[in-house]
Amino acid sequence: MPTSSAPGKVYLFGEHAVVYGEPAVPCAIERRVRATVERRDDGRVVLDAPALSFDGVTVEYGAGDPALSTEPALTAEPARVRRAVRYVDAALASAREVAGDETVGFDVSIDSDLPIGAGLGSSAAVTVASLDAAARACDVELDRATLADRAYQVEREAQDGQASRADTFCAATGGAVRVEGDDCRSLAAPSLPFVVASDGGAGDTGALVAGVRRLAEAYPFAADTIGAIGDLVRRGEDALAAGDVEELGRLMDVNHGLLSALGVSSRSLDELVWTARDAGALGAKLTGAGGGGCIVALDPTDATERALALAPACETTFRAELADEGLERE
Ligand code: PMV
Repeated sequence: MPTSSAPGKVYLFGEHAVVYGEPAVPCAIERRVRATVERRDDGRVVLDAPALSFDGVTVEYGAGDPALSTEPALTAEPARVRRAVRYVDAALASAREVAGDETVGFDVSIDSDLPIGAGLGSSAAVTVASLDAAARACDVELDRATLADRAYQVEREAQDGQASRADTFCAATGGAVRVEGDDCRSLAAPSLPFVVASDGGAGDTGALVAGVRRLAEAYPFAADTIGAIGDLVRRGEDALAAGDVEELGRLMDVNHGLLSALGVSSRSLDELVWTARDAGALGAKLTGAGGGGCIVALDPTDATERALALAPACETTFRAELADEGLERE
């Protein structure tokens, strides 16, 4: 039974500005989603994924079995469960396409050590891992570029046409990545001492992106702020290439300030960022869309993680190494 895994990610720099064509640098982190998939000849899909908050629900539907609904029937389930199933379902459809078999069924089991829906790229990791494992279950081995591209199409479909290539490329290839428009490439990066903390919430990415757009349209200096983030990312790329972790930390602090100016931080994210800074982190910023969710700090010592664990705003904190490998096959 093939198992494929893919890492989550944090943004070292550049979220939101990337929407306006500025570069961004997401980094894969060594926290993974694993998908194990077995082929079924009866056309059924049986999806068992406690890690996606199914709360014991096994989802069963059929692609080729007329006795079963062809759609996952989840009307009574919470929205987050329905959302998670959309990614898996679209990934399985993509795998059927590459296998040239529109009716093949699958047993799918998904396990995750990433918090789900917290801005750490869990949906991209779910998509990449389940697409790859399902293709392998049909004896098709996808190369990284095809996998990243197909996973991007899957995310776009599951997100009603809205997705950037950053998350899926990062999950497929690992390491530090530079994204500018459709151009995605890997960057050489030193091992970075990431500490991640979550406030237990999650922002609404669409609403936050729309808020930044309104601000940039209303105030030229908000548009300049987006340009300033782009300039900062270019400086950050130099610091990354030089392995200058202290400079990376300073630039992360500035990036957080610029994101706050664009209105996408929150009281709890600011509290986590300041807890990290007070504990001696080299730098700290929110990661992803903001509004709630996660921050990322750099600290080679244990001090930041210990301080965050005690912060009232912190639901969970962990150290995360840069994941050099994206997709892994077992
Ligand atoms: O919160 P995430 O991991 O989905 O990141 C969103 C990043 C944005 O730049 C705000 C939006 C985007 O599509 O790039």
